[in-house]
Amino acid sequence: MQRAAHPLVYPLLSRLGRPVQRIPRVGVVVTDAALLRSVLLDTTSFTKTGPGSPADLWTPVLGPSVLLNMEGADHLALRRRLAPLFAPAYVDELTRQTIGPATARLTERLVAGEAVDLVAEVREAAGQVISRLVGLEREGDGDGVPGGEELFARVSAVTGFVRLSRPRFTPAQVRHAREVLDDLTRHARAAYRDADPGPTAGTGPSADTRPSADTVPAADTVPARMRELGLSEDEAMGAVGAFVLTGTETLVSYLPRMLAILADTGWLERLAHDRSLLGPAIAEGLRVTTPSPVMLRSVAADARVGRVAVRAGDRLVLATFLANRRAGTGAALPFDPEANPAADLKQLWFGAGAHFCLGAPLAMAQIGLVLNAVLDAEARAPLAVAARRAQRGTLIPGYSRLVLRARQ
Ligand code: HEM
Repeated sequence: MQRAAHPLVYPLLSRLGRPVQRIPRVGVVVTDAALLRSVLLDTTSFTKTGPGSPADLWTPVLGPSVLLNMEGADHLALRRRLAPLFAPAYVDELTRQTIGPATARLTERLVAGEAVDLVAEVREAAGQVISRLVGLEREGDGDGVPGGEELFARVSAVTGFVRLSRPRFTPAQVRHAREVLDDLTRHARAAYRDADPGPTAGTGPSADTRPSADTVPAADTVPARMRELGLSEDEAMGAVGAFVLTGTETLVSYLPRMLAILADTGWLERLAHDRSLLGPAIAEGLRVTTPSPVMLRSVAADARVGRVAVRAGDRLVLATFLANRRAGTGAALPFDPEANPAADLKQLWFGAGAHFCLGAPLAMAQIGLVLNAVLDAEARAPLAVAARRAQRGTLIPGYSRLVLRARQ
C-alpha cells in the first residue's frame, strides 16, 4: 500500500533502523514513538513555523493564521475559539444528522447484495460532513457546490502538490491552490459577510455562543458562528480551508483500509457479533494505518533529539507511521485488538501536545457511524472484499477502490 502511494519515500523511510537519523535532502528523521512525542511536546525547541516547517508550505496558500502554521499564545487563543465547533456532543449530532440516513442505507444496500465501493462512500460522507461543518454550501442551494466526490478531487489536487523532498510550493502551485480554495469557500465567505456579528463579537466563546448538540446550525450559519466566536474574516476562511484540507483525506485513507484489515483478519465477523473490542480495534487500525503518516517541525534552537544534535533551521521529519507500527519495540507489530499495543501510544496517530488533532472527535464520530453500519450488514449477510486497488502517487496511502459485497 505504501509502495503504491510513493515508491521511493515510504520504502526509504521504512528501512531506517535507527530512532533518529539525518537523511540528506529530507531532514532529520525520527522513527521512535517516545522521541517523537518528546519533540511534539517541546514547542520551544521545535516549531511548526520556520524553515522546512508546515508554515513554509501552507502559509502562502492558507494565510498566516490557520493553527497548523502557528505557535504560542496566538495559536492557543485561536484554538480555544475554534474548540466549541469540535465539541464531541456537537460533532456527534452534526455527523448523525448529515450522514446518518446514508449510513443506514449503506447497511441495507450491502444486505441486499449490492457491491459497494467503500472509497466512494467515504469520500462522499467525509465531504458532506466537512461541507456542513464549515458552511461550504447554502441550505437548499446546490449552485456550484461540489458533491463529496468532487470536493475530494479538488482537495487532492491541492495536497497532491506536497512532496517531502520539496519544503515549499512553487508560485504556480500556490496560485492554483488559492484558486481552488477561493472557489470552495465562496459561500462560506458570503455567509460570513452576511452574518450579524452580534453583541459577543471579538470576545471569544461564551456560554451563549457555544454550539450545543440540539442546536446544530444550518449549513450556512457556521461561518456566522465563527464570526460570533470572534474570528476575523481571514481567520475564518483560513480555518475553513485548513479544515477542508485536513478533514477528508485522512478518513478516506483510514476507513477503507480499516475495513480491508477487518475483512482480511476475520475481525469483521467477530466484531459484527460482539462489539466489546470495537474501541481497541479502531485504535489498532489507526495505529497500523496512521492516516497522517508524517509530521514536520523546524528546529528553533540548537537541541538534541535522542543521540543526534540538531541545529536551528534543521528540518525534522517525524515518521509517525513507523513509530506507531513499531509501538516502542524495534519491529513492526501487526493489527491485534486483543494485545492492543495501541493502548500505550496515547493516540500518537492524532499527534500530541499543542497541535493534537482538533478534528479528532469529528473523525471518531464518522469512524463509529460508518464501521457500525458495515458491521450491522456483516451481522445479517457476511461480507467479503470483492475488489481492491491501491491509490498510486499520493501523500497519504490508501485505496482508490475497495468493494465489499455479501458472500454468495
Ligand atoms: C483519522 C483521521 C485523522 C487523523 C489521523 C488526524 C491526524 C492529525 C495529526 C497527527 C495532527 C497533528 C499534526 C502536527 O502536530 O503536526 C492533526 C492536526 C489537525 N487536524 Fe487532524 N486528523 C484526522 C482527522 C481530522 C479531521 C476530520 C479534521 C477536521 C477538520 C482534522 C483537523 C485537524 C486540524 C485543524 C489540525 C491542526 C491542529 C493544530 O495545529 O492546532 N483532522 N491531525
